[in-house]
Amino acid sequence: MPLSMPDRPVILTGDRTTGPLHLGHYVGSLQNRVALQSTHRQFLLLADAQALTDHAHDPAKVSRNVLEIATDYLAVGIDPEMTTICLQSHLPALADLTLLYMNFVTVARLERNPTIKDEIQARGFGRDIPAGFLCYPVAQAADITAFKATIVPVGDDQAPLIEQTNEIVRRINRQAGTEVLPEARALIPSVGRLPGVDGKAKMSKSQGNTIPLSATADQIRDAVRRMFTDPGHVRAADPGRVEGNVVFTYLDAFDDDPAAVADLKARYVRGGLGDSVVKQRLDDVLEAVVAPIRDRRAAFARDPGHVLEIVRRGTQLARTVTDATLRDVREALGLFALHERCDANA
Ligand code: TRP
Repeated sequence: MPLSMPDRPVILTGDRTTGPLHLGHYVGSLQNRVALQSTHRQFLLLADAQALTDHAHDPAKVSRNVLEIATDYLAVGIDPEMTTICLQSHLPALADLTLLYMNFVTVARLERNPTIKDEIQARGFGRDIPAGFLCYPVAQAADITAFKATIVPVGDDQAPLIEQTNEIVRRINRQAGTEVLPEARALIPSVGRLPGVDGKAKMSKSQGNTIPLSATADQIRDAVRRMFTDPGHVRAADPGRVEGNVVFTYLDAFDDDPAAVADLKARYVRGGLGDSVVKQRLDDVLEAVVAPIRDRRAAFARDPGHVLEIVRRGTQLARTVTDATLRDVREALGLFALHERCDANA
């Protein structure tokens, strides 16, 4: 169990519970997590509280996706004996730390955060930015530091959030006069972001351009059939472009025979290779990747009580870890501790 791995570097990462995970998560992040769990002390946070910062209008969706994502984790091979899966909203120390850190960040700094700026744009908040949304980087700093994580595997868009976390860490440590919290570094996957099947830069469920981990063989075939290729490649005989051609981008990400892919690319560029041949290969490759995940997912989905129990136990363990950090920080800052005073007088 993770508690008996005290020498291992601590990893924390998480996912907003707004929709089931998809193949974009798999190549960028989930595969990494499965590999890291045997060498690190890893915590995965089901970030339902953070999900609410832009989903206050749909708490049912946030709630429904807690077990969905936990099931996705288990389906890809996250082992609850090695990785602690825990539920953000049920770790009160995270909220306490957020409130405390809020005093060590200025509003101007929050408004300057490039990730937040982009996300405010993308969500069309205009001037009606929920305060919880503007402040979620502070909450994320609480997530990371509560576990004393030093490694945070995230996409490159999250790097400014790690920077913000470390600024808070340095301020707290300076105020405390001791290194009560460690700084963290982002672990950014070497593979680039997987585009949506429509060729858009980002896979997003709201855009309908994802392939979920639970996709059936038919859904995969359908997604591949609709997949964006080279609009200039009208007849098989025409020379085609590989750059920006989503089918090849996916083959690069999933096909374990790069020589065969290189050969296909050369024939495509030369002319004489139809989209349907390349798509057939991708269909086979994706089916081989997804089939075992889909089967394991279906098995876990048949026993939601078991998944719930894994989340409950993980959250309990995470609670002892995060409560201890909250005590450390409060003590290092010299804040009043009522309980300890009562104990001292007893
Ligand atoms: N912000 C992350 C996302 O958008 C989710 C998340 C919440 C997270 N808390 C975290 C990631 C802590 C890394 C560390 O998916």
